[in-house]
Amino acid sequence: MKAVILVGGLGTRLRPLTCNTPKPMIPLLNQPFIEWMLQRLHDEGVSEVILAVQYLADRFRTTLGDGSQFNLKLHIVEEPEPRGTAGAVKNIEQLLDGPTFVLNGDVMTDLNLQEMLAFHHDKRSKVTIALTAVDDPTQFGLVEMNGDQRVQRFLEKPRMEEVTTNLINAGTYIIEPEVFRYVPPNQFYMFERGLFPVLLQTGDPMYGFPSRAYWTDIGKPQTYIDVHHDILIGKVRYGFRGTQIADRVWSEGEVTIHPSAQIVGPVVLGAGSMIGRGCRIIGPTVLGPRCQIGADCNLEGGILWEGSQLGEGVTLRHSVVGRNSSIGANSLIAEGAIIGDECILGPENRLERGIRLWPGTLLGERAISF
Ligand code: GTP
Repeated sequence: MKAVILVGGLGTRLRPLTCNTPKPMIPLLNQPFIEWMLQRLHDEGVSEVILAVQYLADRFRTTLGDGSQFNLKLHIVEEPEPRGTAGAVKNIEQLLDGPTFVLNGDVMTDLNLQEMLAFHHDKRSKVTIALTAVDDPTQFGLVEMNGDQRVQRFLEKPRMEEVTTNLINAGTYIIEPEVFRYVPPNQFYMFERGLFPVLLQTGDPMYGFPSRAYWTDIGKPQTYIDVHHDILIGKVRYGFRGTQIADRVWSEGEVTIHPSAQIVGPVVLGAGSMIGRGCRIIGPTVLGPRCQIGADCNLEGGILWEGSQLGEGVTLRHSVVGRNSSIGANSLIAEGAIIGDECILGPENRLERGIRLWPGTLLGERAISF
């Protein structure tokens, strides 16, 4: 069985983390997310994967090679320009030869693909769409079905009074290649606004596959932070590399922890990390490789990418710091702040409430403080 992973989006909602790193390559528990996807597809019986790439393609090639490290055959196909979700699969149509899994590259789910495939065959479906239930359907594209689970209608971000179901498109499909005859070649074309409405008109059978599997779109800052939490508290299975060194504290290699530091899990410490005197690190927190945490820092719900440094007395809560950034002493980084790669902040800055700094930003002492 083959799978196509759509990885060509710009990941605008997750900027600045996606300025230098394509969204599917951003680290989750210090491992590029796409690696976990490939491992999972292999475990689900997939033997060949096509990555439909558009943006920062070389990053995929260098990291993933030919897929042999995942026991998969991997094709990395670059689009000449963004083709949209359906257009991207049309672009690699010649590689398809039967029902194919098509997956958004930013969805964390433990959906059972083999059960979905059995359902697809049983219904003689041409397109099967995985569905997940959400609390607030007004923010999503809803999928309405009849009693036999055949798709009847799509509703994009309806008003509350128009809501007829809480089931949304979960970004995982099984598609028979023949339906790509409806997709115009060399054009931008989407599944939700293009191909699927056409299939409703032509009468090609399209079914919904609701599931209670874990599901989240990692492509928003808050969900990116939350998914770390969910993995660390065991809500979703995600193999990570650390060895346990204390109760719910894992290290990925040699780490230096000052004896007076207090660490309350779940916490993951990247190889080569250093934690200074008097620090308090409260989980869920993840330090990338070679992070340096100065004396008396307080971290809770923080995600630090490789090589970040915190000066003395920094407080960091529910926020992300990109690669090789340095935060000056006594700064506060809190409540969804996102610091891009290679930023240098002087002492006593205060960044809160979702503030974002683009890669390479330099801030002097107290440049942002209120
Ligand atoms: P935002 O800009 O934050 O909305 O993210 P995005 O660009 O990734 O868009 P979205 O989350 O809607 O895309 C869903 C999936 O389709 C993601 O895995 C994208 O990488 C992928 N995708 C979106 N547009 C394209 C495209 O034009 N080509 C390819 N190959 N993939 C795409």
